[in-house]
Amino acid sequence: MKITFIGAGNMAEAIFAGIVKQQVGAASDVCVTDISEERLEYLSQKYGVGTSLDNPSAVADADVVVLAVKPQIFPTVWPEIAEAIKPDALVVSVMAGVPSTTIADGKPIRIVRVMPNTPALIGRGAAGIAAGEFATETDLQLAEKLMGAVGVAVRVEEEELHAVTAVSGSGPAYVFYLLENMLAAADRMGLEKGIARELALATVMGAAELMKESGEEAEALRNKVTSKGGTTAAAINTMIKRGVGESVVAAMQACAARSRELADG
Ligand SMILES: NC(=O)c1ccc[n+]([C@@H]2O[C@H](COP(=O)([O-])OP(=O)(O)OC[C@H]3O[C@@H](n4cnc5c(N)ncnc54)[C@H](OP(=O)(O)O)[C@@H]3O)[C@@H](O)[C@H]2O)c1
Repeated sequence: MKITFIGAGNMAEAIFAGIVKQQVGAASDVCVTDISEERLEYLSQKYGVGTSLDNPSAVADADVVVLAVKPQIFPTVWPEIAEAIKPDALVVSVMAGVPSTTIADGKPIRIVRVMPNTPALIGRGAAGIAAGEFATETDLQLAEKLMGAVGVAVRVEEEELHAVTAVSGSGPAYVFYLLENMLAAADRMGLEKGIARELALATVMGAAELMKESGEEAEALRNKVTSKGGTTAAAINTMIKRGVGESVVAAMQACAARSRELADG
């Protein structure tokens, strides 16, 4: 199976590095394109993948074409490759906010859309995958396998990709924002930066792992560590009073709404 990545940015690198590392595909079967010769040289040296500056010839023999350019580059790139892609090839798009109907433009192309996130860079990603109109069960399984090489991959309907963007696509930024503010507070309390960072990171990862392993709901776990009149209660009550919960909900709704706006052009 030959896989060609159009656009060799961070997201493409994360995915094909995972594919090669997890032996989902051989480096010799992966080809990546970009406009930067230097970038391609670096990727070829590091992963042993094939590279090309020529998009149409790079897709000509591909069984899977992964669209990994920025969405605003898509209108330039697609006309040059659309005719060159084999009729039976699968198109996997990681581009945020470009509907499969825009890519297909009325043609019966098999498309799977993927909404990944940046922890894919370390093999801990969370991706939603959605079938376009003509994608088959086999196509979805293949996309699951490819994205499974860099983390968790979950099937959703294409319309749900807006919500996936709000949960996991943009999600890492919410966690970074929380950490940013936890560390700012720790600094004000005089805790040494390195110590605070180590503790805060272990806390976020430990809490997530605890929730995953216990299978318990977030609220139940929170209640377990919040004794009446205690220190955690003082913190949580302040968050409740200041509307942190409502802010998170509003933020995610704004994210999904923006995702819809971008998709509608
Ligand atoms: N990063 C994320 O968290 C994330 C999450 C979900 C979805 N995505 C989606 O993933 C896609 C890639 O994101 P990214 O962060 O990896 O972006 P990126 O780093 O900008 O990668 C895109 C690459 O494509 C190259 N490129 C530009 N024009 C090209 C052309 N005509 N032919 C071939 N390559 C070309 C760019 O080169 P130059 O830099 O020189 O222009 C760049 O190296 C985007 O569509 C984004 O919506 C990203």
